[in-house]
Amino acid sequence: MNLPNLKEAKVRTKNKTLIKYDDYIIPKAIENIGKNKTFHIITYGCQMNVHDSENIKAIMEDLKYQETSDMKDANVIILNTCAIRENAHNKVVGMLGRIKHLKQENKNLITILCGCMAQEEVITNLIKSKYKWVDIVLGTHNIHKLPLYLEKIVNEHKQDIEVYSIEGEIYENIPVKRDSKYKAYVNIMYGCDKFCTYCIVPYTRGKQRSRLLEDIVLEVEQLVTSGYKEVTLLGQNVNAYGKDLNLGYNFADLLREVAKTQISRIRFVTSHPWDFTDDMIDVIKNYNNIMPYIHLPLQSGSNRILKLMNRKYTKEEYITLYNKIKEQIPNVSITTDIIVGFPGETDEDFNDTLDLYHLLKFDLAYTFIFSKREGTPACKLKDETPLEEKRKRLASLNEVVNKYALEHNKKYVGRDVFVLLEDYSDKDNKLMGYTDTMKLVNVKASDEYLGKIVKVKITEAKTWSLEGELHD
Ligand code: SAH
Ligand code: SF4
Ligand code: F3S
Repeated sequence: MNLPNLKEAKVRTKNKTLIKYDDYIIPKAIENIGKNKTFHIITYGCQMNVHDSENIKAIMEDLKYQETSDMKDANVIILNTCAIRENAHNKVVGMLGRIKHLKQENKNLITILCGCMAQEEVITNLIKSKYKWVDIVLGTHNIHKLPLYLEKIVNEHKQDIEVYSIEGEIYENIPVKRDSKYKAYVNIMYGCDKFCTYCIVPYTRGKQRSRLLEDIVLEVEQLVTSGYKEVTLLGQNVNAYGKDLNLGYNFADLLREVAKTQISRIRFVTSHPWDFTDDMIDVIKNYNNIMPYIHLPLQSGSNRILKLMNRKYTKEEYITLYNKIKEQIPNVSITTDIIVGFPGETDEDFNDTLDLYHLLKFDLAYTFIFSKREGTPACKLKDETPLEEKRKRLASLNEVVNKYALEHNKKYVGRDVFVLLEDYSDKDNKLMGYTDTMKLVNVKASDEYLGKIVKVKITEAKTWSLEGELHD
């Protein structure tokens, strides 16, 4: 048993990150522990969590468990959770209620809670007192040890909480079972050291730790060999890639090296507006396989609020960067994240955000109401704006977001674009995929086009997607 500790989670030392190439092992004694058994996994949160779930799936299959899409049938249920906002919490609590019933019917069912919520003291305390039937609580730093915890639970039938509030290390040999055959997530770094005052991620994911450039390039090369068309380089703040390594290379250098592989499409998330260099803009501009799409979270258009958020840039600096990117990279699309109702946000602050949105006219924005996260500095700030008012602000912002999203999409009608057809669309027997600029397109095409980058003529624009036809 090892419980998280918020104070320890804040610590950042100068200690070098250890990179381990052989820490994931499956002892012989348990290599068939999952034979004729199934697991069901539910994933919440960001791409990093989705990718962690891809690791967990592969670990379970190494133990001979098989994945099932039917939760009621499963021998093991895994909840990979997100802690970013209160509603992410609530979803998990609701799901725990459903799983409790299954557990009552089947005493042998093994339940596992992992991911960012597991790293929170409030959650492990709750699990210990109210959810004693949850078998394993597993943090974000020790996924590779899942086989050992499973063995323990099978033998001892006693709740086991294994969460470490440490800066973290890098494990290079964790297996992965990717959800897609065509596009892949590639972690380039873990953790975050930015400590934006509202955000829980630096506490749940540990310090910023970059993977070695050669390890990343090797992974991309292997993906190319396996037929992958697209990689998305993942990090909470990719621009800061390499700074912790002190090996003389940075994110622009990494992008350049990845671009020299034969991979057709390269994306990356997330870029913090702070330390977005001219060199990065140059590389994105100069390589055709780096997609002209940048997610550049703004958070607020008020300098006062940006300061309280510890975002380390001003509205004016953001505008300068935004314009530079637009001028330098032809056809670029830029999306953003915005938080409304940060503690102390006045009507005037919010109007600054709206005004800035009208000025910049983003392709799209993901908008959120501020959510108090236990242990973050913003949690202690006085917050007098009623929720009702925050909801109104969110609705009026979303109206503006949708208006510009549709305007941008309309510009595509009649144009030819390249789309990587990656899956079936929800409707009309169509396939779906994204343009280089990350616009979702539904296309009437047969299965044989799955996994191919095709030329599509856009016929119709909606707020959130485009409709298109295959070019002959
Ligand atoms: N690392 C990324 C963001 C990761 S979290 C970055 O810095 O850009 C994704 C988004 O969730 C953030 O951009 C922010 O807009 C939102 N978010 C994070 N913490 C939040 C909180 N406490 N309340 C509301 N929204 C939050
Ligand atoms: Fe959170 Fe800020 Fe780090 Fe993004 S950069 S993960 S918002 S602390
Ligand atoms: Fe959520 Fe953790 Fe990602 S808090 S957004 S799953 S890093």
